[in-house]
Formats: sequence, C-alpha cells, structure tokens
Amino acid sequence: MSGPWWDRAVIYQVYPRSYADSNGDGIGDLPGITSKLDHLAWLGVDALWLSPTFPSPNADWGYDVADYRGVHPDLGSLADMEQLLIEAERRHIRVLLDLVPNHTSDEHPWFHDPAKRDWYVWRDPKPDGSPPNNWKSVFGGPAWTLDDRSGQYYLHNFLAKQPDLDWWNEDVRHAFDEILRFWFDRGVAGFRIDVAHALVKDRQLRDNPPARPTDSPSWQRAGQWPKHNMGLPEAVDVHRRWRRVAEEYDPERLLVGETYTMELEKLATYAVPDGLQLCMNFVFLHAPFVAEQLAAVVGETERLLPASATPVWHASSHDDPRFATRWCNGDEAAIRCALVALLSLRGACILYQGDEIGMEAVDVPPEREHDMVGRDPGRTPMVWSEEDGAGFTAPGVEPWLPLGDRSRNVGAQRADPDSILTLTRDLIVLRKHRGLLTGAYERIEAPPGVWAFRREGGALVAANLGETAVVLEGVSGAIVIGSDRSRDDEVVEGPLELGPREAVVLAA
Ligand code: NOJ
Repeated sequence: MSGPWWDRAVIYQVYPRSYADSNGDGIGDLPGITSKLDHLAWLGVDALWLSPTFPSPNADWGYDVADYRGVHPDLGSLADMEQLLIEAERRHIRVLLDLVPNHTSDEHPWFHDPAKRDWYVWRDPKPDGSPPNNWKSVFGGPAWTLDDRSGQYYLHNFLAKQPDLDWWNEDVRHAFDEILRFWFDRGVAGFRIDVAHALVKDRQLRDNPPARPTDSPSWQRAGQWPKHNMGLPEAVDVHRRWRRVAEEYDPERLLVGETYTMELEKLATYAVPDGLQLCMNFVFLHAPFVAEQLAAVVGETERLLPASATPVWHASSHDDPRFATRWCNGDEAAIRCALVALLSLRGACILYQGDEIGMEAVDVPPEREHDMVGRDPGRTPMVWSEEDGAGFTAPGVEPWLPLGDRSRNVGAQRADPDSILTLTRDLIVLRKHRGLLTGAYERIEAPPGVWAFRREGGALVAANLGETAVVLEGVSGAIVIGSDRSRDDEVVEGPLELGPREAVVLAA
C-alpha cells in the first residue's frame, strides 16, 4: 500500500470554463470551482487537474498562453487561485495546473521581443517562397506561417496563433524551470504537461516521410508520419530536467504528461524512472468498447511499461468525445460497467468532469460552436441540477456553450444510492481504502465479450461488455460492488452469471 500518492490516484480533470459560474456571466470560473470542492472531497478524488487557467486570447481555449504566471480574467484572479489552492488543501485535494510548453500564444510578449526571436523557430522560405519543409499542423494546413514583416516563416505544430517554442534553446528551458518553481512555490502539486511528446523538433528540420499503412487515421489524413516534429526522444531530456525541479520540493511535485502516441512501445519510452511520473495512455482511450480489445491494450501496457512505472487510464477528456457517448451510446448499464472496469485497474485513473454522473456529449448547433475542430460536445457545462442553468450558472443566463440533457445531474444522483455517481464514489472508496485493488493486474480467461482480471492478492473483476448474458465457471466469492447494486454482498459459488453490460468486483 506504500508508494507515492499518484500510484493509485484518482485525478479529476476540470475544464474551468464549464465547471461552475460564480458571477453569472455564463462562464465557469475559479471561485465556482472552489465552491464545488465539497463535492469533490465527497467524491474522494485525490487531485484536480485544471485545464489551462492562464491569460489567453482563446484561439485554442487556453492552450494558447499569453502569460504563464497569471490567471485568465474570465476565470478570476491570482487571489482566486490562491483561495482555491487553500480550500483544496484543507480538503486534502491536490491541484495540478496545465502547463503548455510546446507553444505560446502569438500574443505572448516573448513572441514580439526581438531579443527573444530565437526562442521560437524562424526560418527563411525556400528559394521558391514556400515553407522551409513539408511539416503539417495538427489542426490542418502547413505548420509554417510567413511573417510579412521579417520575410521569415515561423513554426507552429498547432494553430498559426500558437507559435512553437524552440526547445533546443537553453533560455527557453530556463524560463520554464522558473515557471514551474513559480507555481510550485504557491502550493501547486504538479502539472499536466500539454504536448509533452512533441516539445523537441528535428534540428535540421528534415521533411517528414509519407504516412505508413500502420499510422493512425489522423496521420493518414495528413499524408505524413510526423517523424521529425513529434515524438523525438530528446523530449525526455526536458522531462528529466523538470523532474529534477519537481524533486526540489517536499512533497515532490507531480508531472503528468500528455504523451500522445498510438504505439505502446513508444509510450514506454516516456515512462522512465527519472522523467514524468505519469504518462497518459491514448491507446486505451481510443480503444473500442470491446472486451477483447480493451483487455489487449491493458495487457500490453502492463507488459511494456517499465516495472517502476505507474500506468494511467482515462476514457474521456476535453479533446475526445465523452466515454458515456463514444463507448456506451448513453446506455446506463454500459456506463456503469465501464466505470467498474476503469476504476479497478492498476495505476492512476483520470476522470473527466461529468464522467462521474455518466454525462454525455452534447450536440452543439453550428451557431454556438467555439472550437475550430469540433471538440465542443465534450466541453459543455457540468450539470449540477435539473433547474434552469443546471446549477452551473444563474437561471436565465445563457452559458458560453449550451447545456445538455439535465436529467443526469449531480443533485439527483447524490440523493440516490443506486445512481452512477454513488457507484463512482463507492468504487473510489474501494480503490483507495480496501486493499482489494492494490496488487498486480492479471488477465483471466473469460467467455467472448467478457473482460476479466484479477488483482493479485485481492479482487476478481469481471465486466461483460457484450449484449448477451454470460456465465463464468469456477468463480466464487462475494460481490463487493456490482454495476447492478442489488448484487452487492451476493455470495457466488461456482458459476458467476453476468447480465448484458454488467460488471462486478468480487472478493474471491
Ligand atoms: C492538447 C490539448 O489537450 C488540446 O486541447 C490542444 O488543442 C492541443 N494540445 C494544443 O495545445
């Protein structure tokens, strides 16, 4: 049961603009988050990860930072952040901010400071005036924009309004060491690190090769494998440098990397003992809700990660359609089943706000869209109650993104011992306090459609993700938590029957 706190942590991702609006302007804010800390303490999460809270022109909704030491005025002030940190600490909840070191906003003063021109990647056009190489932006089009004034192009892996920093530049490295310390000194428990896998680019800026048949659909669409502008091993040197800064503090600060790769072998290269403590696993997030496939991803992750590493599991985020919709098509039994499996895995779990109530993706009509690549459906306001404004904002106020269905809401579910929220809370208690979910992960043979595993020295977990009832032979013990709560405490002797989309945690 020993080890660092993040080894079995439940980290809860808050999308600050959509959590709770304290001042009735339709936008969530820091005092709003503070006002919900009792909910989070009740839920039992160990830490909050706040999506970016810094001043930003919001070309990419905070992931384009104009000042790494401030707070976005829409969200509040530094004093509000201080208050949030104090109130979270009072409740033993750690707070992680979202560091965006790959790029700044083009409105960051650094980008306009002639003395800092070499903090970014500037290059002359080719003789025919075209960009220096063939790199594509993740958001489409070339990764280079011409600056008419200087006649040079600058690099941006994302939007033109997000110029990439040059991580070969020691001054950039030093500047971020100081930014980390600035927040660590203020009591921030760590950072989630945006684009942690792509900080360092090929020094010679070589052209990317064509996409390979095995590459992800998005690389296929772009027509190239971003061999030279993403996933360079030198990013790990930067992680190591940050780890040394994190270790200057007591308690040690946590670095959670957005280590985006669809290859588990590659993921394992980030999970070094002296680098990021937690590396997010996007292969799991993007796997289909099929027992055999999820089990294969988890098994491979367990096999490939170094023994010292803590696996990380998440199923929703502000970038991806919510799991309740994507995996479960809104079906409550399936949502419950997914939560049982997710929260029983070895390692750290990240819940995205609303996962705990089975919140679904919301249709956002074109006239209310904000995001340029269609990620609004997963970013709509948290549903706290059934009333007008959903407890997110005052009744009569139009929230910045539309509210979805209010029938699944925190208020109603807190009062219901059989709700998704109560199930989530009980699973978190089980995960943290009962010793049944601490041992190694071991997959167990199971009928088609069933994902079954044992936690060494503890529970047996079986999830029937299929649509027909199944029987697992030779399983006996007592059900500690079932996705169907009426089965809690049931004693199983011999065959375990599971209905469609039903999961149990069993003390064997
Ligand atoms: C990953 C973030 O999660 C996403 O929201 C953002 O658009 C890109 N990085 C660029 O910062």
